[in-house]
Amino acid sequence: MCGIVGVVSREEVASRLVDSIARLEYRGYDSCGVATLNSVGLEVRKGVGPVAEVAAREGLKSAHGTFGIAHTRWATHGGVSRENAHPHLSCDGQFAVVHNGIISNHHALRRELLDRGHRFLSETDTEVIAHLIEEIYRQEAPVEEAFVQALRRLEGSFATAMIAAVEPQKILCARDKSPLILGIGDEECFVGSDVNAFLPYTRTAVELDDGEYAVISRDGFSVRAIASREIRKKRAMNIQWSPQSAEKAHYRHYMEKEICEQPDVIRRALQVPQREISELARRMSAAKRNVFVGVGTTYYVALFGQYLLAALAGEFAPALSSDEAGTLGVWDPDTLVLAISQSGETFDTLQALRHAKAGGAQTAAIVNVPGSTMTREAKLVIEQNSGPEICVISTKAAMAQMVLLIRLAAEIARLKGVDRGTASRLAAELEVLPELVQALLASQRVRIRELATRYHGMRSWFFLGRGIYTPVAYESALKMKEVTYLHAEGMAGGFLKHGTLSLIDPQTPCVFLVPNREDRELYDLTMSSMAEVRARAGRVIAFAFDEGNESFDEMVALPETSPWIAPLLHLVGAQLLAYETAVVLGRNVDRPRSLAKSVTVA
Ligand code: F6R
Repeated sequence: MCGIVGVVSREEVASRLVDSIARLEYRGYDSCGVATLNSVGLEVRKGVGPVAEVAAREGLKSAHGTFGIAHTRWATHGGVSRENAHPHLSCDGQFAVVHNGIISNHHALRRELLDRGHRFLSETDTEVIAHLIEEIYRQEAPVEEAFVQALRRLEGSFATAMIAAVEPQKILCARDKSPLILGIGDEECFVGSDVNAFLPYTRTAVELDDGEYAVISRDGFSVRAIASREIRKKRAMNIQWSPQSAEKAHYRHYMEKEICEQPDVIRRALQVPQREISELARRMSAAKRNVFVGVGTTYYVALFGQYLLAALAGEFAPALSSDEAGTLGVWDPDTLVLAISQSGETFDTLQALRHAKAGGAQTAAIVNVPGSTMTREAKLVIEQNSGPEICVISTKAAMAQMVLLIRLAAEIARLKGVDRGTASRLAAELEVLPELVQALLASQRVRIRELATRYHGMRSWFFLGRGIYTPVAYESALKMKEVTYLHAEGMAGGFLKHGTLSLIDPQTPCVFLVPNREDRELYDLTMSSMAEVRARAGRVIAFAFDEGNESFDEMVALPETSPWIAPLLHLVGAQLLAYETAVVLGRNVDRPRSLAKSVTVA
């Protein structure tokens, strides 16, 4: 939700500011802008539209200045307009501010500032910050003091960065319940909503905690508490991701790149040290109750974990959608909560973890983005190291999380003594998964593209599976709907006959996730759901291991593998089908309408 960037350097920064907000566009992309200080004073260039478009139209890259801030917006307060785009200036044009989060007392602050003669140009909550700083500065407080005093008046959540005409070559920034991280380069410093903001320029990062502010300059940084202004000692961390990993390379879209990267991403998930998996497995085996939490895609990943734990370790560990976890969860010291999150910043999942912690529960997390809030708030963290996921739609991160959950469930089964050889068998099977995914990508791409071309006109899709394929069916439908804007529903095959069959007709493609025949019971159940669809003249598209079957209208052939690994191949097929359908429909694949990655507000 909104991407913030700041750079202070010896060189011109506009170009890097623009490239950096472009890399953060998955956080929001309805409008954007930059502010730099140059001979005309604080100069703001901004506009409505994606970064590349606004940059070309408004000449963002030709703004002069050796320090500045930039922002890409996902509207919350105030519609999408040039006026509401960030940065926002104070009345006197001396302070420019960008912000992510929600200032819940902004109405009261705005009234107060209006009474004091301030003029507002936007409907945003953010603009009050610029005027508040100006107001306090006018009362003869130094810039830093004015900034801190203004922050203390804010309620709600914020990550913010500010530059002042009177204090060149400095950026002041702060966070409270919204993400912000510093990047430390060679005679230059950066601030960003996450590490993708500065990855090509430095891999040394410093995490800010809630309630802290920082002053950055070419010479370095200092961090203090907003409440007391006490100095906070910080340790720099090294980001393992390669700077090239955020580039689109020769792919048409990041979604395509990230789907195709999955063999490598799986290898990296397999390289996560076994001791980390074992430690989490040990704690989960010792806990009386385990609960998975995630939301959107990661809820389906969590659900996949629930199925695995039930089947492999004989344990009932419910998966809760984080947005409802506050109502459904029972948190006590006997419970361990395992959160799953790509960004490590999702508000709902962080809230679920915080509720759990407050109730005395143990917390753990599987997270992709290093230095994210969840990596600090959860007691035990497994970093999945999948590299930057730039497309708003999650693909490769979910795949890595599922692989890690298979490893975890196998280890819990081993610790509980209910293993029956599964753990070692699964480890060997996972080793060959990257090649299987590679083979699938190579052999079925054309077939899936052809299906997309023929079926893209269908308005309503169903994805059906049984058992452990159920969460994969949910996730497949989510991929289809978010990137194509077509209606898609994922469902357990058994559920179909309890109402949804009324919707099945020749215009409804039903994608069946067919298990391998080795998985006899699930296979038969799936085929019986398929028969129900066929009886209503529904179109059956099967992702299957069979040579072919007369019950299928269409088939995508998957490379043979074992029952626990198979659903991951179905997932790749479904990701590709969603992607190719969106391409045929001419959708904005990497930034679908109305969506943002990393939903950091309630
Ligand atoms: C779907 C998608 C979202 C996220 C969800 C959780 O493709 O990307 O549903 O999965 O917002 O985000 P994280 O994993 O960052 O916590």
